[in-house]
Amino acid sequence: MSRRDRSDAYSFRLLVLTNLLTASIIFFLITNFFLVHENAILSKFRGDETVPLTKPSSDDDNDNNNDNGNGDEHLDNDPSSNHTLEYLNNGLAVYLEAARSLQPITDKVTDHTYQIMYGKFLLPYYHQKPSMKMLEIGLGCDMRYGPGASVNLYKKLFPEAELWEAEYNRRCVERNTKAGKLDGVHVVVGDQGNVTVLDSWIEKSGGNFDVVIDDGGHQNCQIWHSFQKLWPTVNPGGLYFIEDMQVAKNAVYRKATTETCDGNLIVPEKLKEIVDDLLYDTSRKSDIEFIFCQSEACVLGKKHLSSGVGN
Ligand SMILES: C[S@@+](CC[C@H](N)C(=O)[O-])C[C@H]1O[C@@H](n2cnc3c(N)ncnc32)[C@H](O)[C@@H]1O
Repeated sequence: MSRRDRSDAYSFRLLVLTNLLTASIIFFLITNFFLVHENAILSKFRGDETVPLTKPSSDDDNDNNNDNGNGDEHLDNDPSSNHTLEYLNNGLAVYLEAARSLQPITDKVTDHTYQIMYGKFLLPYYHQKPSMKMLEIGLGCDMRYGPGASVNLYKKLFPEAELWEAEYNRRCVERNTKAGKLDGVHVVVGDQGNVTVLDSWIEKSGGNFDVVIDDGGHQNCQIWHSFQKLWPTVNPGGLYFIEDMQVAKNAVYRKATTETCDGNLIVPEKLKEIVDDLLYDTSRKSDIEFIFCQSEACVLGKKHLSSGVGN
């Protein structure tokens, strides 16, 4: 082999080695990039961007096992599971377990089974919009277990939400505010059956609620009056929950009256009219998109802007 041939062979080997080295470096860089960014890439595909910052202490389960419809199952502690998806897929169980982890436990899950409507609608709503603005009427000052049970639950489940609480009992509100039990919660005071009071609540809060929960006096006229005033302030796509209507036909709950409502009005009957409209009125002028009722309670959904009707 001539000197020139040897030199060519040497150059050829050098070229092969250089290419091999370059290919290895590129391979090394690509695999490392994927390993470092794997979680971000996968979470993008899973749609996990709106992860709430804090999670309920014991909602780590990812097994979608809310089979009995009441969310009455144990959630096991799987640290790898994603609680955000739990809000979407397993809301009943998440709501129930969070409520049971607190003292006192709100009657929403003891005397009632409201984990059903809150699990199906409210937790998924929070998943979509953690900054949601929510008003509850009824702090619980007359409850056997004392005030604040539902507020504590909301703080735990919805740490990023803007929480508003409305209550009739001013002294109870003042006491609890002083004790720091309403820290992080905006409060309005007065009778939900009074026009001026409701106007002042809307003015002080600015309205635009994503969610309203009526767990106040439970008198038909109070509920209906509040609904008429507050429903227009609910944002498109928002939710309006009405609890404890099992007492609606009871004479005690037909005593309160307002300018537009007397003891003849029974809220569940009005809601049945809404159902009739939804089912039979094909003009679909109403801004009510749906109504879902369970035992003793209902939730009404407001039409989304994109539906193009009633907004
Ligand atoms: C059933 S408790 C609320 C329970 C609480 N949300 C919970 O989960 O523990 C009803 C609350 O509504 C308040 N309330 C009663 N009548 C009212 C009215 N007319 N306007 C505003 N609040 C009222 C009561 O003082 C009481 O605090």
